[in-house]
Amino acid sequence: MSDSRTVLISGAGPSGLVMALTLLQNGISVRVIDRISQFQVGQRGAALSPRTLEHYKLLGCLEDVQKAGPILHTLVLYDEDGVTRKREMPMFPIEDNTPAAPYRNVLVLGQDRHEALLRRHLAKFGVFVELGTELLDFEQDEDSVTATLCKTNAVGETVEGTSTFKWLVGADGATSFVRKKLRLSFLGTCREAENFVIGDIYIKDLENKLDQKIWHVWGDASRKMASLRPYEIPGDDRCYYFGGGLEADRDLISSSREEFIKSFYEVSGRTDIEFGDLIYLRPYRPNIRMVDKFGSGRVFVAGDASHVHSPTGGQGMNTGVQDCMNLGWKLAMVEKGLAPKTFMESYTHERLPVVASMLDQTTALLNKTFGRTPDNFDGWKRGYELRQFGVNYRGSPIIVDETPSDASEIVDPYRSGNDGTVRGGDRAPDAPGLISVGQPSDKYLSALFDIFGPTHHTLLLFSDDKEKQFAILESVKKYPANILKRVVVLSENTDIKSSDLPAELVFKDKDGYAYQNYAIKSRTLDTVVVRPDGVIGALVSGVDGLKTYFDGIFTPDVEKVASSLKSLTI
Ligand SMILES: Cc1cc2nc3c(=O)[nH]c(=O)nc-3n(C[C@H](O)[C@H](O)[C@H](O)COP(=O)(O)OP(=O)(O)OC[C@H]3O[C@@H](n4cnc5c(N)ncnc54)[C@H](O)[C@@H]3O)c2cc1C
Ligand SMILES: *[C@@H]1O[C@H](CO)[C@@H](O)[C@H](O)[C@H]1NC(C)=O
Repeated sequence: MSDSRTVLISGAGPSGLVMALTLLQNGISVRVIDRISQFQVGQRGAALSPRTLEHYKLLGCLEDVQKAGPILHTLVLYDEDGVTRKREMPMFPIEDNTPAAPYRNVLVLGQDRHEALLRRHLAKFGVFVELGTELLDFEQDEDSVTATLCKTNAVGETVEGTSTFKWLVGADGATSFVRKKLRLSFLGTCREAENFVIGDIYIKDLENKLDQKIWHVWGDASRKMASLRPYEIPGDDRCYYFGGGLEADRDLISSSREEFIKSFYEVSGRTDIEFGDLIYLRPYRPNIRMVDKFGSGRVFVAGDASHVHSPTGGQGMNTGVQDCMNLGWKLAMVEKGLAPKTFMESYTHERLPVVASMLDQTTALLNKTFGRTPDNFDGWKRGYELRQFGVNYRGSPIIVDETPSDASEIVDPYRSGNDGTVRGGDRAPDAPGLISVGQPSDKYLSALFDIFGPTHHTLLLFSDDKEKQFAILESVKKYPANILKRVVVLSENTDIKSSDLPAELVFKDKDGYAYQNYAIKSRTLDTVVVRPDGVIGALVSGVDGLKTYFDGIFTPDVEKVASSLKSLTI
């Protein structure tokens, strides 16, 4: 039976939910299923990277996230006696926000609350996760994917049936059926020796026992360690627990509440801490694996389905969010006929090097965490790159960058975007203080992050030169505003007071941040295209470069297709 919805998303963890939200904003209908019968509890992957926050700005859920999630706790490591502070350090040092990066700190938001928040945003589109619905099988052909679904109702009866969709996204976690069915390789290692136990538990009289703003750590993982991080909700009496170590027995510790408590007292000496109910407790064995391809035909994988790794570094959930940001707009463009199907290959091209680098870094941290050097705290230190600002697609075949090439340049997929050289494939920086020119709202100030959006490309033309402005704008006139927003950014010194330019927006860069953050003054490249996922797609000097970029993305008849879609999108 043909389903009225376009994309089936299997799995409603953070990846599946972000995938759904991105597609819905692009006007693509989705069906989101999960085989579990009740939503997951527990905090698990709770650290939100600044790059994820920027994606949430694009998706319109940042404000809610900021309200719910404070800056990640400071870490305190205790001495043998369990109470003397041996070391105190923020995992991610707190940074001041800047005009280029208005959200620079890592936030903490329990995964259960995070997922609930995303579901509330889906509900605004009338989309609800279908629980108790398992993807059992699928077949695909040139035009569609037929899925076999098994639905279990409230009294445990099951109904099996098939539904046909245009696309399938497997956001179905580490054991992904979609990945297995596609026969994607999932190479890597399993680290048997490193024992982790992860869980959540109530603590009696928490506020008098443990400072809520601190992540408390006893022992160390080269032998045995235990840690408690109070929930980020003020006054709550639950804690996230993370423990284990080379000499710990994860299966024993996670076998019962009593065994857990015994091991906690042994490691911490804090027998004054009384525990309430256990919420859940699980052994956790770091598997370090990734796919060699993020999909095939009309079926893709994202999130833990495509990469699993050590939780050290808190990159997992964040990387899943970014997979979906990369995949979402591409899938929407192809589905609408704006880009050819082969365009989907860029999803693998762009994510593969980033994920490989991520695995390397989380593994290095895992090694340090379990390293047998006395007083080695390196495993708890989080490098700046783990904020993910530097994650880039510089090597991608769909990126156009006319910067004179330097053969000796090495691209680091996780760091190169951090060095201040803004390049094609990098994160597009923000810039506040833009005054709109020649419009009634002359005094109104905007920031670039308010102008970028998940459904359209944004052209930023940094020029006061009338001839140049008209030449560039003329060359992209054929793209309707629903797929390309044209923005002219005049320099802070401009004396142009009104505008007759054929652009959606004309700004004066009042404080000079836009020119500075895009390093415009130091080069001849003044034409930038920002993709719907907030990445610089093109950095060029003029009409030819722009044409190369758009020809590499859009189908030749894009004008016709886009105009017919006009009524569909915002
Ligand atoms: C026990 C545990 C502890 C963790 N602790 C940490 C931590 O401390 N720090 C950290 O950063 N990360 C941690 N992680 C990892 C983090 O939770 C994941 O990176 C994150 O959940 C990935 O999101 P996802 O949406 O890709 O996959 P998941 O959250 O795994 O979601 C996948 C969903 O797909 C569903 N599903 C699977 N198969 C099917 C099917 N055939 N049909 C329908 N639905 C299906 C599952 O029920 C599940 O809800 C932990 C993970 C686990 C399991
Ligand atoms: C981590 O340790 C393993 C085994 O000791 C080693 O093979 C691997 O190269 C190390 N990885 C990193 C990234 O440090």
